[in-house]
Amino acid sequence: MIALIAVQSSARMAGQKDFAMARLGSLTVRRLDARIKQQLRLRAAANGRSMEDEVRAILRGAAGAGAESRPEMIMPAEFAGAERREQKVDVREDRRPADPAAPQKWRVLLIIGGGIAAYKSLDLIRRLQDRGARVRCILTAAAQHFVTPLAAGALAGERAFTDLFDAQSEFDVGHIRLARDTDLVVVAPATADLLAKMAGGHADDLAGAVLLATDRPILLAPAMNPRMWAAKATQRNLAQLVADGVRVVGPNSGEMAERGEAGLGRMAEPLEIAAAAAALLPKQGPLAGARVLVTSGPTHEPIDPVRFIANRSSGKQGHAIAAAAAAAGADVVLVSGPVDVPDPPGVTVVKVETANEMLAAAEQALPAEVAVFAAAVADWRVEQVSRSKIKKQEGRPRALALVENPDILATIAHLKSNRPRLVIGFAAETDDVVANAKAKRIKKGCDWILANDVSPETGIMGGDSNTIHLITATSVESWPPQSKDAVAGELVERIAAALRGEEA
Ligand code: C5P
Repeated sequence: MIALIAVQSSARMAGQKDFAMARLGSLTVRRLDARIKQQLRLRAAANGRSMEDEVRAILRGAAGAGAESRPEMIMPAEFAGAERREQKVDVREDRRPADPAAPQKWRVLLIIGGGIAAYKSLDLIRRLQDRGARVRCILTAAAQHFVTPLAAGALAGERAFTDLFDAQSEFDVGHIRLARDTDLVVVAPATADLLAKMAGGHADDLAGAVLLATDRPILLAPAMNPRMWAAKATQRNLAQLVADGVRVVGPNSGEMAERGEAGLGRMAEPLEIAAAAAALLPKQGPLAGARVLVTSGPTHEPIDPVRFIANRSSGKQGHAIAAAAAAAGADVVLVSGPVDVPDPPGVTVVKVETANEMLAAAEQALPAEVAVFAAAVADWRVEQVSRSKIKKQEGRPRALALVENPDILATIAHLKSNRPRLVIGFAAETDDVVANAKAKRIKKGCDWILANDVSPETGIMGGDSNTIHLITATSVESWPPQSKDAVAGELVERIAAALRGEEA
């Protein structure tokens, strides 16, 4: 791999004026002389890092504490002239995101096989990225008849790999490092030929060598003609691979690329493959292993087939909390009323309309360690929903008899068994925000309440920011106005601390 490191600002290198690299706009590892490259390679190997990561570590060390962290290796003068810009690697890339809502850098190695479904693999790159994955691509020779390394590389943001015998790529990355510098290998489309090669342990090309060398989970998304799929040889190979521990998603049944051909053999859709991949990725972060239930959005309570009672909740806050919890490694179930905001990545979304449906879905999602009730549930529903559209009458409009909806938060908070360890509610108030929220926390039986002033002049309802008072059994804490994403991040940090046994 060509490692080109852009040192973006001299400010980041403040105090390192004497360090030759601080003055450079960019440098190319490939252009170093053989002796230095060899030194860098040995040092990278000794530290178990790629050469580019090693250079980053050296830069970080240099930009950090000063003389004592200065690397032993002296950077040569020839760095100064290096100007090639094929691929930039921001030196900030390796820093852990401070915001837990920020996507985490899972690494997925995507091997694209040679089939017409390869075009869907380009979309798969994006879908994996949506779930916070950093994607690297290998294209087999056959794959390159369908999609180009340039397209895959452009979408991945990193050059695509194609050749086992490419001296440059072997030198910079190498097939062993490709096989190991990942959390998961996805093969999509997995053709009949690739399955056969894998089952037989062939390593005569880059994909085969990497698949043989990897010790990471492998997910296959087979795609082929239904007869090829049904063929005894394919099924035998598949059975062998499954016995070897390889996971499989799809194939689906449907129309084939060839006219008039239909049956089992279509590659699973990119969203399905990304979901299957996410399920195999190791969970990391402060909420890893915790199951979190979040309710979000309004509920719609039908009056007749065309009318309903609703409110102005956008679902932005609840969805942001679900996203932040997922990014922190939690296994999240988001029970959402009708909203326009997109489903957060890496979250199981259960879509509901009414309060009764929301309660049923919330109960179904248990057991969970944490439950956050951010939904603006309609307090009442129409007692008798009309099966046909209610006609306008002359004279007095018809009165609607209402009945109270179940209180989902209070129901879950008062459960005798299966109660989440931490039950968190919201209180949208227009007057005496903190006093009312304190009373609500006790009445609802929850552990924490996040209170916010939703009087119309605040613009909170449907807006992007929120001013929160966190009310616990022992404290009231007022947070500064901040974005709903930032509120979500802050809350997730508090939840993680509480699960660790620290006070909120
Ligand atoms: O009583 P109020 O609607 O102000 O309570 C707000 C809190 O209770 C929110 O956390 C909301 O999600 C939850 N709630 C609920 N079910 C209801 C009403 C409110 O879960 N029927």
